[in-house]
Amino acid sequence: MSTFKGSNSSRRAFMRFLAGSPFFAAWQLAARPQSGQPDLPEREALTGPAIASPEEAINVFDLEAVARENLPPAHFGYITTGVNDDVTLRANRAGFLKFQIRSRRLVDTRKLDTQIDLFGNRWPTPIILAPAGSQRAFHPDGELAVAKAAKAHNHLQILSTVTTTSVEDVIAAREAPVWFQLYPSASWEVTRGLLKRAEAAGCPVVALTLDQATAGSRETFARFRKRDSRVCTDCHPKERNGFLQRKPMYQGLDISGLTGVLTPHLTWDFVDRLKDATAMKVVLKGIVTREDASLALEHGADGIIVSNHGGRGEETGRSTIESLPEVVEAIQGKIPVMIDSGFRRGTDIFKALALGAKGVCIGRPYLWGLAAFGQPGVERALTMLTAELEMAMRMNGAPTISSITRNFVQRSDAS
Ligand code: FNR
Repeated sequence: MSTFKGSNSSRRAFMRFLAGSPFFAAWQLAARPQSGQPDLPEREALTGPAIASPEEAINVFDLEAVARENLPPAHFGYITTGVNDDVTLRANRAGFLKFQIRSRRLVDTRKLDTQIDLFGNRWPTPIILAPAGSQRAFHPDGELAVAKAAKAHNHLQILSTVTTTSVEDVIAAREAPVWFQLYPSASWEVTRGLLKRAEAAGCPVVALTLDQATAGSRETFARFRKRDSRVCTDCHPKERNGFLQRKPMYQGLDISGLTGVLTPHLTWDFVDRLKDATAMKVVLKGIVTREDASLALEHGADGIIVSNHGGRGEETGRSTIESLPEVVEAIQGKIPVMIDSGFRRGTDIFKALALGAKGVCIGRPYLWGLAAFGQPGVERALTMLTAELEMAMRMNGAPTISSITRNFVQRSDAS
């Protein structure tokens, strides 16, 4: 029998002792769900019983709970982590609460049109699969499962440089071109090799990632890793560039001088060089200020993804939804502006579209679906978010994407 059962005061004293204990604080931190929104009801999904099939998921957080159960702690920690105190990770979610939707009445929304146009291609939905590396660490079918899910619902997929499946195989499974995300490296020859291969495979667009120039400290990842009893080096060889050696996109390229893909030396000259070196459209992923948005225009960028890498690269404490308006203002409709980081709800997507985004990329929600149930899990994440977006369009009186204008949102703390 518990020592404190039947005695409220000794129980309270024990709880006080626990709450003050550093071990309890560390346990709480490690056990904390990392959806970045600890104060909202979505968190409850993680405490309910785990679902057994994708259809049972009520929202994307149900998939997160299963992903957490399925994956070794280190792999789940890799998905979930931000940097340092995960301030930016949480800010991405909290940012949406600063914008409210101004709902319109008496609009006929029986028929909805969610199509968008990007670089002359029509897509049935503005929801895009963000690039994420190492997807076979989350499910044996990895990027192929994601490609098949993208095909099933005709979503645009962006493939990471550090994909665990080659671009050729992914395009074969998708049965349509994907966009290629580029991590440049210290070697231009390697970068050029990656570009040529993506072009030859049929990628029409390259998304240059700019928000990982240096490595932040992924403390949450480190904590999860400590709880993993497996020996990491069994799968991850220790060689200096072992990480790149295992990635199919580097096969046939001379990576002997490379240690990784961090690029603290990169400047705007690189964008000029990239534009000259490729026939693909160049989209800059990671722009968050009006200054850089203007420079992007000056240097001929074809599009922008407002991104802070899902809070995984920097500890600015600034959400992308708050960064979006100034980028949109600077771009003045000249090139498409897309966005990612923290999108978990149809209403989040609705707010970004109202603030001027053309498309919204999602990262973790589909990775949770992948880790939870493979291809059907990815499909479930996509169909739930699409259904939620459609619900938001109906509830707020916006039957088409182009009708979701700036008037649909207000910012509560605007001065
Ligand atoms: C990423 N992201 C990413 N971005 C990129 O340009 N190349 C990459 O290889 C990766 N890899 C990657 C792995 C994992 C596990 C995650 C979670 C994210 C960032 C990704 O493209 C996107 O910016 C964020 O995931 C968006 O935030 P949410 O939706 O995850 O909150």
